[in-house]
Amino acid sequence: MNGERSGAIVRGQVVTFNDDPEVVGERECVSHWVDGAVVIGDDGAIAWVGARGEVPDEYAGLETIDHGDRLILPGFIDAHLHFPQYRMIAAYGKDLLDWLNRYTFIEEQRYGDEDVAKAAAVEFIDELFRQGITACLAFSTIHMTATSALFAEAASRNMALISGRTMMDRSAPEGLTDDAQTSHDESVELIERWSGAGRLGYAISPRFAVTSSEAQLEAAGSLVKQYPDLWMQTHLSENHGEIEVVANDFPWAKDYTDVYDRFGLLGPKSFFAHGIHLGDRELARLSESGSGVVHCPTSNNFLGSGLFRCRHTRNGKTPVKTAVGCDIGGGTSFAMLDTLRDAYTVSQLVGARISPLEAFYLATLGNARALGLEETIGSLQAGKFADMVVLDPKATPIMAARHDLSQSLADVLFALMIMGDDRAVHETYVAGRPVKSAIGASQR
Ligand code: GUN
Ligand code: ZN
Repeated sequence: MNGERSGAIVRGQVVTFNDDPEVVGERECVSHWVDGAVVIGDDGAIAWVGARGEVPDEYAGLETIDHGDRLILPGFIDAHLHFPQYRMIAAYGKDLLDWLNRYTFIEEQRYGDEDVAKAAAVEFIDELFRQGITACLAFSTIHMTATSALFAEAASRNMALISGRTMMDRSAPEGLTDDAQTSHDESVELIERWSGAGRLGYAISPRFAVTSSEAQLEAAGSLVKQYPDLWMQTHLSENHGEIEVVANDFPWAKDYTDVYDRFGLLGPKSFFAHGIHLGDRELARLSESGSGVVHCPTSNNFLGSGLFRCRHTRNGKTPVKTAVGCDIGGGTSFAMLDTLRDAYTVSQLVGARISPLEAFYLATLGNARALGLEETIGSLQAGKFADMVVLDPKATPIMAARHDLSQSLADVLFALMIMGDDRAVHETYVAGRPVKSAIGASQR
């Protein structure tokens, strides 16, 4: 299926989630056609999903792409990562604040150069597609041009991307700080230009309380009030040193969450990355306000930030909407499979295991629901965008050997998330177009 759209029948093992396994149980949560097919319409949407032998006659003339016994799933959705950190993975920082000051704030200043940002946007989105990630909520930098470069690149690929200009006016180098008014006005300019264009969304993006003055948090709050349909993203309760700085800087606050709460930043479209060390009061406020926390396990492990209690946060007394993200460049891999593996190992360390079905639910329909995008993505259902990832559970000799032992879909998915990475991503489709194989083609 190259060039102009004409629709196609994509065959393989089709796997898609209907609901949260923690709510409906493992049997009801997922649909699985061992010999399945997804029909893509010429508009890039899914026209039909089901057993390969039951594809309606009206689609008989379409080209068929056969992925054999590979798994066709909804494209992965990443709920937290940083565009300007895509090439600074594996920076040897002591902890969050040291890592930010020593490496991150230096790298991000480069994005004042539009050419740097434009080239980076191509590489960043290429890498997402290589990993089977078809939608994301991403941080940018304080630079308008860099943020526009990212939006423009995503738009040219017809990708569902939510981002926004980072707001930060203190405790960072001059080249990476603004002021409350400028950050407000430039955010408005970008919102007017990009919000709702194609598949793009805008996120009001104060970096975190450490790098925003009260005036700037107030400006962010006024944007949230002015544009209630937009997303809001920031960081919360990741590291003990960070929590201490926030407690000193905002002595009137009950706790870290209360800082954001006072400025009107909590709500159903608000996403707080990390949330590792939250107290009961904070979890209750996040729950009550419908806010989301994003679990970023490879980053939390890499920076030594702590062990996120996924079950406690997601299904505790005051359940908080929980999404997952790679948090590049604090995270150590763009691969959603690596993120799920670390989410699993961390869940073991805190004594409340997540299941493979739950992990894949979170990376697809769970993240779509969390972000409020479930009408258009997150599962393979007629009418949604044909955003899909094709996974090969036998991608390496050892994976193939392990696959011989698998007895169930859950077991196949478990081996994939423990052993798999980008080698297991055979193809990625965005709005019906194969985009992973196209990366190599465009470079030839
Ligand atoms: N807190 C504030 N900024 C950042 C960032 O860039 N990465 C991580 N992991 N935490 C943050
Ligand atoms: Zn982050």
